[in-house]
Amino acid sequence: MVNPFKYGREVSGRQFYDRQEAFNSLYSKLAGGSANVVMYAPRRYGKTSLVKKVLSRFSEEGVPCVYFDLNRVESLERFCEAYASALYSLVGGAKGIAHNLAEYLSHLHPTFSFGGEFPVSVKFDYGDKMSSTSLAEVLGMAEKIAVEHVHGSIIVAFDEFQEIKGLSPDLPLEGIFRGVIQEQQNVRYVFFGSKTHMLKRMFGEKSRPFYKSAATIKLGKPPEDQSRAFVAERLASCGIGVDEAEVSRIVEISENIPYYLQELSSQVFDQVVSAERDWVEPADVDAAIKDLLAENADWYFEQLKGLPPSQRVLARALAAEPVREFPAEYRERHALGVSSTVHTALLRLVDAGIVESDESGYRIGDPFFARAILMPPGEVGPVR
Ligand SMILES: Nc1ncnc2c1ncn2[C@@H]1O[C@H](COP(=O)(O)OP(=O)(O)OP(=O)(O)O)[C@@H](O)[C@H]1O
Ligand SMILES: [Mg+2]
Repeated sequence: MVNPFKYGREVSGRQFYDRQEAFNSLYSKLAGGSANVVMYAPRRYGKTSLVKKVLSRFSEEGVPCVYFDLNRVESLERFCEAYASALYSLVGGAKGIAHNLAEYLSHLHPTFSFGGEFPVSVKFDYGDKMSSTSLAEVLGMAEKIAVEHVHGSIIVAFDEFQEIKGLSPDLPLEGIFRGVIQEQQNVRYVFFGSKTHMLKRMFGEKSRPFYKSAATIKLGKPPEDQSRAFVAERLASCGIGVDEAEVSRIVEISENIPYYLQELSSQVFDQVVSAERDWVEPADVDAAIKDLLAENADWYFEQLKGLPPSQRVLARALAAEPVREFPAEYRERHALGVSSTVHTALLRLVDAGIVESDESGYRIGDPFFARAILMPPGEVGPVR
């Protein structure tokens, strides 16, 4: 029987539930066309899935959309070629049109090939070095295409947008992006990514080019009742029953974070199937947690081993007790040392994506990693 749960990459169709409020909010901001949007959410809350769902609605309505993942490009040159290819492909699947559009970037001497990674793939001749003018021209293509070929709006979604900073050490990339984007009337942008703290700085610090340049959407957790209904429905679709108490436990243990909810549910499903039952027993959930921790144990161990002691101690404290601030009494209880040490360690853990912060404070982002951190280093019992 095929496992009805899926985790890892983005999801769609029957794997996608709720998000109606966030969907409407993103859809209406983009449809209204009054502002670009930056979307924040901690890791694995379902950002990519949601944005792709909104884009596919716009595509159905005839609005051309580009989804671009900045994590997939390792250099500025590669970004320019891949982004230009995506834009050309939007309107220029046919050879004639692509060659017509070549004039937009004539000094980069584009050459085209068809039917590869994109319907139209572009290569540029950068000469000695990539210049800010070349980048600005590539970014400017979107508006030209919207005006001259689409005769309407287009939407560009930049996933992992915080990564633009690392594309080139030489050019002031944020300033160049912002300069071009703010002139465009017919392109709507959605910026988002999994490193919330970096995006927040990009859009929230006065000295940064993108400061207050986009409407903000915060994607929270799905409503718990919908998470419970989702788990029960997916299991029922395979003829497996589950009672309220066990569904609630699955939602609670995964902290109602979509990725972990699907990961744990997937393990529970495996337990039930291997026991040849059609009902979830409490022991299945216990065994699923154990298996999940065992499967990821190497990765957890590597993560922990790579941390210096100050960060490890802080990770342990946050795993045991998430917190908003670090009063002396908390620091003492967890043997954290002075406030400045805690602060430095905290910044590092946030940068590494291990610690997330939200309204409730700082916590280990992955609830199962938090469990792994708290596991005793030794086991007591009969030695086999
Ligand atoms: N609406 C949803 N319904 C059900 N499951 C979801 C939903 N959104 C996300 N998920 C679960 O979370 C996983 C990650 O989703 P997605 O890649 O969209 O999240 P993300 O926030 O973009 O993650 P990251 O922070 O790693 O970029 C999916 O594989 C799926 O298991
Ligand atoms: Mg994502």
